[in-house]
Amino acid sequence: MSEQIKSKERVAEHGEVFTNEREVNAMLDMVESETDRIDSRFLEPACGTGNFLAEVLRRKLNSVKRQYGKLSSDYEKYSVLAVSSIYGVDIQQDNVEECRNRMFDIWDKEYRKNCKTACSDECREAVRYILAHNILCGDALTMLQNNGAPITFAQWDLVMGSMLKRRDYQLDQLMEGHEKQMSLDMCVNGRKWEYDSEIDAMVPAPVREYPNTDYREVQKYG
Ligand SMILES: C[S@@+](CC[C@H](N)C(=O)[O-])C[C@H]1O[C@@H](n2cnc3c(N)ncnc32)[C@H](O)[C@@H]1O
Repeated sequence: MSEQIKSKERVAEHGEVFTNEREVNAMLDMVESETDRIDSRFLEPACGTGNFLAEVLRRKLNSVKRQYGKLSSDYEKYSVLAVSSIYGVDIQQDNVEECRNRMFDIWDKEYRKNCKTACSDECREAVRYILAHNILCGDALTMLQNNGAPITFAQWDLVMGSMLKRRDYQLDQLMEGHEKQMSLDMCVNGRKWEYDSEIDAMVPAPVREYPNTDYREVQKYG
């Protein structure tokens, strides 16, 4: 059986055929300026075991090393930021777990190499926590998780040096897109929209906001 499929049943049931490394790289080369940017956000709505996401992470970590490799504390912080910018959904739980573990292993291998004795288990725990919130098991068509809750992603922004600001957004609301022409404080169907300076447009407001926290302590959100 080729490495591109796990079983004929899974192909028939879920259309599960994994993409080869060569095609993954050729496609990512087309958006190189984004894959090389540490905080550019990627979402793969049928991520499988993470063939695309793993390569995005590798490329981002190369950028972290290039820009911040001289100082372990900088490398650590920006490598966590790189992980936090990558999102995935898959309908099969085993794929989700494989994908999270694969991403963790890629990050941890580089973390050990670059930070050596400065590595901490607290930071590892933070990365595991972020991956558990960024790579979700659900149906990208209904936009519901396997437990019936709406697919909700945490957006992580680095603020004030070493703090992360977490805001949770519902995927179905984000898919409504953005509006250029809305007035500030706009409400649609009782839902608030907000101005986003990054894209100069109105976007649905987060469903939940959290107090800023040190990037090594996000797991304390519980
Ligand atoms: C063609 S494979 C691609 C996997 C991966 N993107 C890759 O290129 O290697 C499709 C994946 O989508 C998942 N899938 C199928 N239907 C889905 C749905 N409605 N929502 C989320 N994932 C789905 C399958 O479990 C499978 O892992």
